[in-house]
Amino acid sequence: FSVTKRLRNFSMMPTLAELPRLPGTDFDRCKLDVFRVAVATHISKALDIPVETAFTGVDLGKKADFTVAVPRFRLKAKPADLVAKILDTFQPDELIERVFADGIFVNFYSRTSTLARLTLDQINELSKPTEKYPHGAYGTNATGSGKKVIIEFSSPNIAKPFHAGHLRSTIIGTFLANLFETCGWEAIRFNYLGDWGKQFGLLAVGYERYGSEEKLQENAIMHLFEVYVAINKDAKAEEERGGPEEVNERAKAIFRKMEDGDEETLALWNRFRDLSIKAYEKVYARLNVRFDVYSGESQVESARIHAAIDKLKENKLVTTKTKEESRINKDRYREEAKEKAGNGNLEEAAEKLAETKIDGEPENQERLALAVDLSKWKLGKPVVEKADGTTIYVVRDIAGAIQRYETYHFNKMIYVVGDQQDLHVAQFFKILELMKEPFVKSMEHVNFGRVLGMSTRRGEVKFLDEILDMAKEAMLEQMKTNEEKFKAVEDPEGTSDQIGMTCVKIQDMQSKRAISYSFDPARMTSWDGDTGAYLQYAHVRMCSVTRKVAHQVTLREDVSKINVDLLTEPKAREIVYLLATYPDVVRAAFKTYEPSTIVSYCFKLAHLISSAWETLIVMNQEQELAQARLYLFTCARLVLSSAMRLLSLTPLERM
Ligand code: ARG
Repeated sequence: FSVTKRLRNFSMMPTLAELPRLPGTDFDRCKLDVFRVAVATHISKALDIPVETAFTGVDLGKKADFTVAVPRFRLKAKPADLVAKILDTFQPDELIERVFADGIFVNFYSRTSTLARLTLDQINELSKPTEKYPHGAYGTNATGSGKKVIIEFSSPNIAKPFHAGHLRSTIIGTFLANLFETCGWEAIRFNYLGDWGKQFGLLAVGYERYGSEEKLQENAIMHLFEVYVAINKDAKAEEERGGPEEVNERAKAIFRKMEDGDEETLALWNRFRDLSIKAYEKVYARLNVRFDVYSGESQVESARIHAAIDKLKENKLVTTKTKEESRINKDRYREEAKEKAGNGNLEEAAEKLAETKIDGEPENQERLALAVDLSKWKLGKPVVEKADGTTIYVVRDIAGAIQRYETYHFNKMIYVVGDQQDLHVAQFFKILELMKEPFVKSMEHVNFGRVLGMSTRRGEVKFLDEILDMAKEAMLEQMKTNEEKFKAVEDPEGTSDQIGMTCVKIQDMQSKRAISYSFDPARMTSWDGDTGAYLQYAHVRMCSVTRKVAHQVTLREDVSKINVDLLTEPKAREIVYLLATYPDVVRAAFKTYEPSTIVSYCFKLAHLISSAWETLIVMNQEQELAQARLYLFTCARLVLSSAMRLLSLTPLERM
């Protein structure tokens, strides 16, 4: 830097050592912050404004590394004069090499050699596994340190199908939990099972008739579902015959016993629950999904439910509900749920919602239910206490939130639930607000659109296993289209399973959450286009380059001795810059909770790398140059791998 050193006397740019540490920056984890602060420091001196203010105006640029829009600072002088001031006082230095104006914008270029040195060495350093970050820490930040978040997701219903809504919740929820951890939070992965309600009385009756201990042990999810379907049929038949409704009566009695805490009935129900959880854990593991807590509607303490209802009464928040109002309300739930459920699997969700709501309705004029009037907020009049005293969905959510707060003292709690339950979630959030619960402001609903057409030739897909098997089969078929390549695959079963899952997840996370999509096995497993298969392939290819050149070049132990100044091609610079932005991309995803931000980044990186193989050749090059290029690709692979893991994918090394 002899030239730059000489120039330093004339420059307003500080050296790296002199840069101020501003809030919201973290030089140890994000080297782009270094350059951003350098730009801010220059602007601050040129325009005579606080460096913190200047910093807020430094954006990532399209035409250069950084862009500053001068009107942003709301100064009296004309924008053109401000731009001139910034340009006139600029001297290149070790961090910033060049500026140019573009109307009211000033664009800044980082010095390429410094950017490459700092970025690549940081990626390499932070990618080493530590106890806290077994897959490396590049991209992480400490903004959430000391804070705790509960993320409720997946939450399927025992003895019912695992529908597309549960699948999306599982995928998005896992991503969110990873994202919060990446941002320094302690994340509690919370599964709120649908494991309580009249239907479990029905299930118990069904088990008496159709249950098999063997089948239960083998696959509890499947068996309980079969039993449930069979007993429902019986109940319907009795109803159609005009009674006597023995099944329903007995179911009601059993559920009554459950609510009263009868040990014998609870023991059976507990076994159903435990075995279902065991079965779920297996499938979740296949998806890289795990939970810290298997809770559920049954785990909401009844004392809390009564306390919540008492509080509502004391605060005069409840009214009684007439039959006519109930009918209107019921229709509205049905309609809303149906409308959002569309066709296919979400019908199930709609039914569950309508069912639980209707459960809460009074059966005749004399026995009025208690409701909270939320019509002022256009949220209807949800029933909170049934005439016969049994608990209902919305109240379990109200009391459940209070219980979670008192148990975990979270700083934030997120419900990852599909948009067909928007009304339900808005209702219990509002009721908690009216109850003046102190934590309401830290609750958030992260919703998402629906999935259409999730069925196979055999019919509707009902279980998570089936969904994954379907993706795996589609992937196998896809792989077989290239016979030669297929023969070389070592473990076709395992590989197709991994890629299939990647495809399911990528399809789910590549658009904004609110957007609905059609489940399309052929399209999502294709090698063409931005699919999970393509992404895995991009990663595999980066791994294979290292293997292929291993006989000629391996990276120096001390990477700081690798001469990154040799990375002079525009492509190389583009890659370095994209890698440097990864911590920013994580921060951006955190603001919107959109997995698509990370997915887009992955594809951008994959495309850029695939376009670089021909210019940045590693094979048969001078040792120094080969080292530099291999270092670049190695860092690119490390970053792609981190981003994929954040999305809960397992990056493959061969396929
Ligand atoms: N088990 C419910 C269903 O399948 C989803 C639970 C959503 N979470 C909640 N706290 N209500 O529809």
